[in-house]
Amino acid sequence: MAAASILSADFGRMADECRSVLSDEQGGSAGPGGADLLHLDVMDGHFVPNLTMGPDMCRGLRRALPSATLDVHLMVTDPGQYVDAFADAGADHVTFHVEPALGVYRSKGPVEGPARCDPAEVIGRVHEAGMTAGLAINPPTPPDALTPWLEMVDLVLVMSVNPGFSGQRFIEAALETTRGLRRFLRDEQLIQMDGGIGPENAERVRESGCDVLVAASAIFGRPEPERIGAITAIRGS
Ligand code: DX5
Ligand code: ZN
Repeated sequence: MAAASILSADFGRMADECRSVLSDEQGGSAGPGGADLLHLDVMDGHFVPNLTMGPDMCRGLRRALPSATLDVHLMVTDPGQYVDAFADAGADHVTFHVEPALGVYRSKGPVEGPARCDPAEVIGRVHEAGMTAGLAINPPTPPDALTPWLEMVDLVLVMSVNPGFSGQRFIEAALETTRGLRRFLRDEQLIQMDGGIGPENAERVRESGCDVLVAASAIFGRPEPERIGAITAIRGS
C-alpha cells in the first residue's frame, strides 16, 4: 500500500491536492492507481521541532473526501490528549510514538524526562473510539522498546528519518529494524515505513517486510501528471 503524506502538499489547496493523488473510489481523480491512504503528520513543536496540523485539518478532509482513508501520525509528547478529538474529526487510524512512554522526547534535541503516556491506555482508547491503532519508533530507539505493546497494535510504524520534516534522507538501518520486527508480528499486523521513501528505494523497503509505504515529497513534490506514476512505483503495482 502507498500512503500520501500531505505534509508536502500545498496547504492553500489541500482538498484539491488530495484529490489529485486519491483513486476514484476514495473520491479522487487519480484513477485506480491512486494512493491507498492519506497520511496526516501532526506535530506539536515539542516532541518534534515543527508545528503542522491538528484535528480541524482532519475534519476538513473528512468533509471534502468522505470515502478517503485518513491515517493520522501523532508526533506529539502527549498523544492521549488528542485521541477523542481525532476520532470526532473522522480519522480512521491513529499512530503515536513509543518514545514519550520511555521518557524520551525532544524540542531541539533528545531530552529525557518523566514518561508522558501509557501506550496500553492510549491503544485501548483508540480502539474504543472505533479506529485502528499504530505504535511508531524513531531511528535511535531500540526496537525492543515496542515489545510490551506489540500484540495490542494493528500497525507498527518504523521511522526511516528523524521525524519533524519531509524531504530528509532515508536512514538505511530502518530496513534492519523492519526485518527484525516482522517475526514478532501476526500476519494481519502491518508494518508501515515513513521518511525518505520514493520510487528509487521503495522496492528495498517492500522487500524488508513493509506493507505500507509513506511518502510526502516523492509524491507531492512532483507536478500532478507525474504523481500517479510515483505512487505506482512506491506501491509496486
Ligand atoms: C516526517 C513525517 C513524514 C514525512 C515524510 O516527520 O512523519 O510522514 O512527511 O516526508 P518525505 O516522504 O518527504 O520524507
Ligand atoms: Zn508521518
